[in-house]
Amino acid sequence: MRPVSEADDASEEPRTLDDDDDPWAPEPTEVVDPFSPGFFFGDRFRIDAPLGAGAMGAVYRATDLRTQQPVALKVLLRDKHDGEGRQRFAREAQILSEMDHPGVVGIRGFGHAKNIPWLAMELVEGETLGQRIRRAGKLEPGVLAPILRDLCAALGVAHTAGIVHRDLKPEHVLLPKDRTDRSLVRLIDFGLSRAATSGKLTRTGTVLGTPRYMAPEQISSAANASVRSDVYALGVIIYEALTGDSPFSASDQGQLLGAILQGRIEPLETYRPDLPHELGDVIRCAMATNPADRYGTPRELYEAFVAASGTAGAPRFSTPAPPPPASFTPAKPRPAKAPAPGALTPSAGAFTPSGFASGPATPGRVLAFALLGIGVLLLGAVVGYLISR
Ligand SMILES: Nc1ncnc2c1ncn2[C@@H]1O[C@H](COP(=O)(O)OP(=O)(O)OP(=O)(O)O)[C@@H](O)[C@H]1O
Ligand SMILES: [Mg+2]
Repeated sequence: MRPVSEADDASEEPRTLDDDDDPWAPEPTEVVDPFSPGFFFGDRFRIDAPLGAGAMGAVYRATDLRTQQPVALKVLLRDKHDGEGRQRFAREAQILSEMDHPGVVGIRGFGHAKNIPWLAMELVEGETLGQRIRRAGKLEPGVLAPILRDLCAALGVAHTAGIVHRDLKPEHVLLPKDRTDRSLVRLIDFGLSRAATSGKLTRTGTVLGTPRYMAPEQISSAANASVRSDVYALGVIIYEALTGDSPFSASDQGQLLGAILQGRIEPLETYRPDLPHELGDVIRCAMATNPADRYGTPRELYEAFVAASGTAGAPRFSTPAPPPPASFTPAKPRPAKAPAPGALTPSAGAFTPSGFASGPATPGRVLAFALLGIGVLLLGAVVGYLISR
């Protein structure tokens, strides 16, 4: 767990345009935006540039003046300062402080200044998966596989910690440009997350999340969202990455919701007849209307993707990746059948960024190590004896 504590409310006024102005100048009529580049916020940050904005917050590249390090500073939008907005902010800060994983964005602090909640995060230089897909038009399975591996690893860790993301989409998957990074992804925006076991809703009846990626049960009620709702969103993300298009053909929100609830998915083959048809089966399984028919975990989905596409999620480092445990069967190229919906068993073992965590040492392995140790000791004794003579 990262040591993060809520910062005190800042006392210093943010610098405004008229600070250095001519005292005889007429009163400014415009409201000064404290988040313009060059301005200071919360007695701690210098705003450098806007990075992005969503429904609740705005994110800026900023400099943390305590450390002189660049950060991504997220602030709650002015008109979202109600209980709901504050709760989401607090929840995101709490979850990020609990998660310590290379695939999840790091938190640098959180607090509020002038009644504006803020959250400082590790600044990820790169692009979002959404930008990547738009830039490339579509991704090949071999390119997507290692991204998916690390995304599923990060998500699996959240799920193991009992956290459902509930707002997965390409804009919430950052791709660091540093190729030596320990993970190809940073998962962001846990503002809508909640404990997988909690039935609590922040506001009953509110559609929370981005409809295009929301599972049918989540649209019906946010309280129904589970690990399998995140798996559904992963299915949509995979579809969009492979085709550059949405799995739903809908011209308005109503049609979209209808298509999701009825499971009307444009077949993958329509856009990508060149891909193995098993990949279409994998997406259909991930996006099954009934959660029970979906993969039980992101890991199962990733394994099915690799098997269906014939990609091995090749190691991305110059150093070889650790060998997979015996329970992890590497993908066979083009299997005859895609996994049957409903025939899935939950998989054990945590995911790690470069594959699956190794299981416990087997008795055979322990014996081999013991014999090797004894051999080394004997050799040392013989050499010592010879030298002493
Ligand atoms: N740590 C970061 N490093 C770099 N860019 C970031 C970072 N966090 C967010 N961004 C950029 O800002 C955008 C918005 O971030 P985020 O989704 O967390 O906020 P939001 O959408 O305003 O929040 P909400 O979805 O709760 O309304 C992202 O899509 C990304 O482009
Ligand atoms: Mg967002």
